[in-house]
Amino acid sequence: MKDVCEPPTALPRSLLVLGGTSEIALAITRRLIARRTRTVWLAGRPSLALEQAAESLRALGADTRTVAFDALDPGSHDAALGKVFAEGPVDMVLLAFGVLGDQAHDERDPARAVQVVQTNYTGAVSAGLVAGRALQSQGHGSFVVLSAAAERARRSDFIYGSSKAGLDVFAQGLGDALHGTGVHVMVVRPGFVRTRRTAERPPASLATTPEAVATAVELGLRRRSETVWVPGALRLVASALRHAPRALMRRLG
Ligand SMILES: NC(=O)c1ccc[n+]([C@@H]2O[C@H](COP(=O)([O-])OP(=O)(O)OC[C@H]3O[C@@H](n4cnc5c(N)ncnc54)[C@H](OP(=O)(O)O)[C@@H]3O)[C@@H](O)[C@H]2O)c1
Repeated sequence: MKDVCEPPTALPRSLLVLGGTSEIALAITRRLIARRTRTVWLAGRPSLALEQAAESLRALGADTRTVAFDALDPGSHDAALGKVFAEGPVDMVLLAFGVLGDQAHDERDPARAVQVVQTNYTGAVSAGLVAGRALQSQGHGSFVVLSAAAERARRSDFIYGSSKAGLDVFAQGLGDALHGTGVHVMVVRPGFVRTRRTAERPPASLATTPEAVATAVELGLRRRSETVWVPGALRLVASALRHAPRALMRRLG
C-alpha cells in the first residue's frame, strides 16, 4: 500500500550513478527501473565492465548511457556532470564510487593511503558540490550517498573508515545546506555487504546484500529519509558503540 505522505515523485524517472559499475549501485538501479526509472546515466572510468553494466540495464528497458567520470580528477567533474544535466532533468544522483584499499599495505605506503582518501573523500566532495549545485538549479532531486557505518575507528580499516567518516559528515552538511531548496540528500550507511569486493573478507555480523540495500534505499526515498542504516538494526549497534571505551573498540578489531 502507498504511504499517504509519499510525494508523487519520490522515486526517480531519471538517475545518474557516479560509480556505474558498483555492484550495490546496480542493485539499486535495477530496483528503481522495476519501479519507475526510465533514463539512466552510468558515470565511471571507461571500461568493458561499464559498457556491460549499461547493456544489462538496457535489457531491462531503461534508456542507458555512459559518461566518463574519474573521482581522482576533480577538475573534470563540472564538465562530466554538466554534460548529463544538459541532456535533461536528473531526478536522482547516486554517489556510489569508492575503494576499500588494502589497510595493511597502505599503512606502509602513504601514497596509496592518500589515493584511497582522495577517491572516497576528496573526489566525493568535488562531485557532491557539483551535483548539489546542479540539482539546486533545476529545483528538485535526490542526492543519495553510499557512506558506511564508520563512526568509530577500527584497527583493521581505519584508512578507509576515516575517508567514509569524512564523506558522511560532508553529505550531512550538504543536506543541511540544500534543505528547503527542493533537493533531498540521503546518507545510506550499510554495514558489511556481501559483494565481489568483500568476497575475500570474513563475513561480519549483521552482513547484508546489495538487494537489501536497494530495498532500504527505495523505502528511504519514499519516506524522504535523511539517514538510512542497512540493516536497520545497525543503528542500534552504532548507537551502543558510540560511547564504547577505546580499549573495547581495540578488542573488537
Ligand atoms: N561492499 C560493502 O561491504 C560496502 C559497505 C558499506 C559501504 N560501501 C560503499 O558502497 C559503495 C559501493 O560499493 P560496492 O560494494 O558496490 O563496490 P564496487 O562494486 O567495488 O564498486 C566501486 C565503484 O567505485 C568505482 N571507482 C573506484 N575508483 C574510482 C575512480 N577513481 N573514479 C570513478 N569511479 C571509481 C568503481 O569503478 P571501476 O569499475 O572503474 O573500478 C566502481 O564502480 C562504495 O562507496 C563503498 O565504499 C560498501
